Order: sequence, then C-alpha cells, then structure tokens
Amino acid sequence: MKKRVAVLMGGFSGERDVSLSSAQGVLKALQELGHEAIPIDVTRDMEKLVQNLQVHKPDVVLNILHGRWGEDGCIQGLLEMMDIPYSHSGVLGSSLSMNKVVARKMCQINDIRVPEGQVAKLTDICAGTVMKPPFVIKPIGEGSSLGVYIVLDEKTPLPSPHDWPFEDEVLIERYIPGREIQVAVLSGIAFGAIEICPKGTFYDYEAKYTDGKAVHLMPAPIHPEAYTQVLEWAVKAHDILGCRGVTRSDFRYDDTQGEPGKLYYLETNPQPGLTPLSLVPEIVAHQGMSYAQLVQWMVEDASCRR
Ligand SMILES: Nc1ncnc2c1ncn2[C@@H]1O[C@H](COP(=O)(O)OP(=O)(O)OP(=O)(O)O)[C@@H](O)[C@H]1O
Ligand SMILES: [Mg+2]
Repeated sequence: MKKRVAVLMGGFSGERDVSLSSAQGVLKALQELGHEAIPIDVTRDMEKLVQNLQVHKPDVVLNILHGRWGEDGCIQGLLEMMDIPYSHSGVLGSSLSMNKVVARKMCQINDIRVPEGQVAKLTDICAGTVMKPPFVIKPIGEGSSLGVYIVLDEKTPLPSPHDWPFEDEVLIERYIPGREIQVAVLSGIAFGAIEICPKGTFYDYEAKYTDGKAVHLMPAPIHPEAYTQVLEWAVKAHDILGCRGVTRSDFRYDDTQGEPGKLYYLETNPQPGLTPLSLVPEIVAHQGMSYAQLVQWMVEDASCRR
C-alpha cells in the first residue's frame, strides 16, 4: 500500500551531513517504491517541525536523523506526543543505546563482554591519573567516531580539555587490539556480521564516509564460533536495550592470541547509517535484501506501531 512518508533528516548534531547523505538514499528508494515522500529538514526550529508534521499529516515518519536529539529519544518523544508512528527505536531504547556508559553496563550485567572502562573527566585523563595507555577516549553520547581518540602509547597526543567541544565527562576504555566487527539486527533477528578493515589507524569519520578508506568483508571471515557469538550478542544487546526496528551493534574481535578470539561489545546504534558506504545496507544485501526493500521494510515496520 502506498503511504505518505515524512523523512526526518539533517538535524543539528555533529552528524548532520551523515543524516543528509542517508536521507538521499532513503528518498530515492521511497520514490522508486511509489510512496509519497515528504522530506523534512530538522533544525532547532521545533515550531516549524511540528507545523510541517501537522500540515502534511504523514501516515508514518522515517526518522533518518543521527546523533544527539535525533537518535537519543528526544525526537522520539515529540513523535509519541503527536501520535505519529515512526521508524527505529522508541524513547527508552534510543536513550539507553545512545548513552554508551548505560549500554555497556546493561550488556555487561547480561554477560556480554565489554572492554574495561569507566567514566572520567578529560582533565584527569590528560593528567595521567586514570588509565595507562593503550586506551580509547570517547564522548558518552556521540556517533560517527566524533571525539573518539585512540591513545596507543605515552607519545600519542591527547585532546586538549580547553578545546574539547563535548562534555568533560567521557568514557575511557581499554584499547582492544584486533579486528572490527559490526552486526545488523532487524526486529530482533541478526542478518549477518561484517568485518571492516580501515586503511588508517582506526574506523574514524574519514574511513566511515570516504570511498576507499576501508575494506569491508562480508561475511566477516572470523572463526565460526565467534561469528555465532557476535550474532547472538548483537540480538541480545538489541533486546536488552529495548530497541525496535533496525539497529547495528559494533564489536572488537581480539584474535591476537589466536582463533577463536575474544569479542568485546562497543555499542549499539539505534539509527544506523544508510549512506552509500554504510554497513546495514551492505549486510542485508548479502541476504538478498536490496536498499529499496530495506526501506520498504522500515516503512511497514514503523506503520504497524500505531
Ligand atoms: N575499546 C576500543 N578498542 C579499540 N578500538 C575502539 C574501542 N572503542 C572504539 N574503538 C574504535 O573507534 C570506533 C568508534 O567507536 P564507537 O563505535 O564506540 O563510536 P561511535 O562514534 O559511536 O561510532 P558510530 O556511531 O559511527 O558507530 C570503533 O569503530 C573502533 O574502530
Ligand atoms: Mg560505532
């Protein structure tokens, strides 16, 4: 059935450009599918957003925002109050997932291995009183590797607390050597695990969104036991965090002591990227689901929420 689909895009997080890129693909797919697509560029002007939604009266919203306010339960709360069915996770699932500290804790108490880590002030980390390298610093609620610093040894330059654009309290984690594995989950079913081999030091913003900066291996060529476990953990994380629709969970796989290695959970993305280089479309394509079919699935999944 053809639907009026409002696509929320852009937003005002550090991932605005990523969202616009994801939305480009989604809008094209909606057109191909014959739906009436209504692109809505989300800015800080909430009155305009509410007006747009009231005027267009969409059957369903595809929330293609990434990062703060779009992926952390804020916009989800607005859509709940306006009684408009929307894609991806709800208020709670989004906010639990986007807080890396809470997500780690919930996974850890449910027997999913996470890297040793804690919340600390960037100033204390820089003073050298929190953890000796190798470690990773990351903001608690950002995405796309924004603000992620890999500190491999004492010589690695640290971010300056004076120019730090994020909250002073950050997550500091033990650096896990090895490989990068990500899993797509749709409505509690794992579609597969992909390995990413970034050409630089790690899977940073550039490697995520520049063609040729990372090699993707689908399915991830890891030990079969580890492959099964990573799928199980991704589904478990999706469920524990109360997510809906599609999510992508990210892991490190330390095989430096041989195979099968040890998996470590990093995070669950409640609004995974849908850009030309994003992993969820690539993982589902391997199972025979095209980009347009994925979008159609999201429309249907969101529609039956009313
Ligand atoms: N503990 C760790 N050990 C080794 N590498 C890590 C660790 N934590 C993060 N990284 C590296 O940093 C990248 C980004 O980390 P993470 O996924 O936690 O951040 P993000 O900004 O939420 O990313 P996105 O939302 O785009 O997936 C990881 O994909 C990995 O390459
Ligand atoms: Mg990640």
